[in-house]
Amino acid sequence: PTTRAAVEEAIALHARRPGPLLPILHEVQDALGYVPEGAVAPIAAALNVSRADVHGVVSFYHHFRKRPPGRHVLQVCAAEACQAMGARALQAHAERVLGMRHGTTADGAITLEPVYCLGNCALSPAVMLDGALHGRVDPERLDRLIDACRG
Ligand code: FES
Repeated sequence: PTTRAAVEEAIALHARRPGPLLPILHEVQDALGYVPEGAVAPIAAALNVSRADVHGVVSFYHHFRKRPPGRHVLQVCAAEACQAMGARALQAHAERVLGMRHGTTADGAITLEPVYCLGNCALSPAVMLDGALHGRVDPERLDRLIDACRG
């Protein structure tokens, strides 16, 4: 969908419910993969809040992307239980292998993102690739997942 269509649909679905801003932003990101700059003004107008309010929420939650993601999205859990099981090293490994920092997209192929608990703490460190959860991920397994993306 276009930004306009996605925003209109999200507003139509949620604007009359209590606390509509987060559900609208989620809806837009689900439809477009990110929350484009052009979505901010119409959302602010529909909810009768300032653009700064909308920007503030988009910036506060790591979940919301400000740019389109790559074809694959690799999320490495950065929350406590996973950190205790070596997630930081896994994250550094991913950055090294992909030659990038979190949140950047290498040649449109892969976006690497931090995520704060995937609900898979018992099998930490956890990783999500294109919506599929992987537990007890070590650098070798991560390499195989990345190779499959590059396939
Ligand atoms: Fe990583 Fe919960 S802390 S899955």
